[in-house]
Amino acid sequence: MLWAPLTMNDGNRIPRIAYGTWRRGNGEEAIAYVSNALSVGFTHIDSAQVYKNEAEAGAAIRASGLKREDIFITTKYSSLADIDTSIRNSCDWFGVDSVDLYLIHGPNHAKPDIPTIWKKMEGINEAGLAKSIGVSKFMVSHLEILLESANIRPAVNQIMVHPQVMHIQGPVIEFCKKEGIVLIPTYSPLIHYSDGLVARLAHEIAQRLGVKPEQVLIAWSKSKGVVVVTSSTKKERLEDIFSAGELELSPEDIKAIDAAGLADTQELPTPAMYAKKTVSSTPS
Ligand SMILES: NC(=O)c1ccc[n+]([C@@H]2O[C@H](COP(=O)([O-])OP(=O)(O)OC[C@H]3O[C@@H](n4cnc5c(N)ncnc54)[C@H](OP(=O)(O)O)[C@@H]3O)[C@@H](O)[C@H]2O)c1
Repeated sequence: MLWAPLTMNDGNRIPRIAYGTWRRGNGEEAIAYVSNALSVGFTHIDSAQVYKNEAEAGAAIRASGLKREDIFITTKYSSLADIDTSIRNSCDWFGVDSVDLYLIHGPNHAKPDIPTIWKKMEGINEAGLAKSIGVSKFMVSHLEILLESANIRPAVNQIMVHPQVMHIQGPVIEFCKKEGIVLIPTYSPLIHYSDGLVARLAHEIAQRLGVKPEQVLIAWSKSKGVVVVTSSTKKERLEDIFSAGELELSPEDIKAIDAAGLADTQELPTPAMYAKKTVSSTPS
């Protein structure tokens, strides 16, 4: 099965590829993008309070005719209001009784502190407003603080994973694996699609395999055993990305991309530098 779901530590299942709505605008435009993704086969929508298009995603889901149980909704608490109001608003925007996965958008949103906000997340889970709960952009130190007082372990930690940041994210990926508690949904698999050694290698491998470079990068992400969170405004690209679920890279190609990613870090911007140069009015 293409992109067969993974089972999280709470027993709930999560589709292995998600369509992200960051930078997908509002209104009819945003509805059209999400509708494209659903028509291609994406059943997992990744949103956030701060993207301000949860209502559009909900409208696209309803228009698709898909049943609620066939769609997986992830959204994030971005501390724009108190958390109890925020989750209720997100459910209302999506037009659902509960979301499938609710995340703290980042440690900077864990206000007043990580234990207090996680306790609130546990309450949201127990109240049935979020079937699973997790975090995003948490590093090892943040997870350690959270786990000290947690009754419910985070189901996921959503972090940036692409070949050029594997060496930075390695410790948190290892920590999550060791604890056996957290899946790592990735985002930004295509961030350095067009520059650097990884891009050149992806083009070479793609030519050899008769596929597209972005499919090679998506297959690399999938090879890391994670949920891939990606996006495109173009339906044909989404079709290519989705069908990359069938593409298995050889261990040699995966190792070569890993090595190119590390080498690229000498010449490409770090995630922090990228954040500065990203043309976006809202944080991711
Ligand atoms: N938790 C967090 O804090 C956080 C942070 C960042 C992102 N995310 C989530 O992850 C999702 C994906 O993030 P992302 O947008 O950085 O993902 P991405 O998959 O790395 O990048 C998507 C971009 O790549 C471009 N692209 C795709 N194929 C391409 C090709 N063949 N050639 C050139 N460009 C190509 C797309 O442009 P076109 O539209 O032109 O195809 C699109 O803008 C977000 O929407 C969000 O849901 C979460």
